[in-house]
Amino acid sequence: MVPSLPPLRLALLGAGTVGSAVAHRLHERRQRYADALGRPLELAGVAVRDTGRDRPGIDPALLTSDAAALAARADVVVEVMGGLEPAGELIGSALRRGAQVVTANKQLIARRGPELEALAAQAGGGLHYEAAVMAAVPVLAVVREALAGDEVLGIRGVVNGSTNYVLDLVAREGVPFADAVRQAGELGYLEADPTEDLEGLDAAAKIVILARAAWGLPVALEDVAVTGISGLTDADFAGAAGRDEVLKLVATATRDDQRGVRVEVAPRSLPLQDPLAQVRGGTNILEVDAVSAGPLRLVGAGAGGEETASAVLGDVLRAARRC
Ligand SMILES: NC(=O)c1ccc[n+]([C@@H]2O[C@H](COP(=O)([O-])OP(=O)(O)OC[C@H]3O[C@@H](n4cnc5c(N)ncnc54)[C@H](OP(=O)(O)O)[C@@H]3O)[C@@H](O)[C@H]2O)c1
Repeated sequence: MVPSLPPLRLALLGAGTVGSAVAHRLHERRQRYADALGRPLELAGVAVRDTGRDRPGIDPALLTSDAAALAARADVVVEVMGGLEPAGELIGSALRRGAQVVTANKQLIARRGPELEALAAQAGGGLHYEAAVMAAVPVLAVVREALAGDEVLGIRGVVNGSTNYVLDLVAREGVPFADAVRQAGELGYLEADPTEDLEGLDAAAKIVILARAAWGLPVALEDVAVTGISGLTDADFAGAAGRDEVLKLVATATRDDQRGVRVEVAPRSLPLQDPLAQVRGGTNILEVDAVSAGPLRLVGAGAGGEETASAVLGDVLRAARRC
């Protein structure tokens, strides 16, 4: 098929772990995507901080440090820079002019999702963020779309791979907790500033986004009762092992008649037969309980450039169909 419509222009903001995987796959799958959309999807440019760095597989002519100018001339803006700013301003501007925006930025969506969605609705654009929660695992699509005709009762999951890696190392290898945290840092499982993972803030952002998707209620990050794993001691792990249990950082959202939704992140001691107790290393799991569907479980890679790119690219196609 020879596409007859003009190409759609895609601005890629960020070419790090996720952005570089998105760029490679966009190029590799360009014919398939053009066939699916009935028009080519053209990478108009790639915004980075350092345009002088060699980026294998990305045409240097596409690189720019002017993310705002690049985003302003795109039909679909893909934000994979991370951080609250300038990502927030770039997304806001794109939405105000009716563009389609795809982002993997969980902290930004957890803090400003409803406001940005309102901007999208006002200007006729779209905001897509499947990749922000559990990367490749399509949890938002399930909760928001597949279960739209059902009633979600509750959600619980292990949604942070970094802390799960640490907890797993202690429980299965007997590594002392402090050493497991150090090892996870050395292997790149934790951010340079590990607070977001260890204090449960990453999991809190994800459960807020999930709760909003499940119930359409204005759940805020401040509503989450958060306890991270940094206060755990070797005695806590020994206690759990003695009961044939394991410690996991569990995020939960439950329908609550008084408060609307109760959202929580905390370490929990789980019996070994609990499906949440069985997830290893960086794997994520989410259990969604709905009135008619019963309990559903979604398990898979909750991080990684390639895995996150899978969700970003799914959103890119969804966004492009709305252009
Ligand atoms: N990594 C994962 O497994 C994963 C999973 C799910 C969601 N996410 C989310 O995906 C997003 C990206 O994560 P990542 O791991 O790919 O981050 P990353 O590796 O740190 O990459 C960030 C990219 O953005 C660019 N950038 C940052 N600030 C910029 C600015 N002000 N102007 C222009 N470019 C800028 C950087 O440029 P330089 O290359 O020049 O530094 C880099 O290319 C984050 O929101 C993250 O939470 C990541």
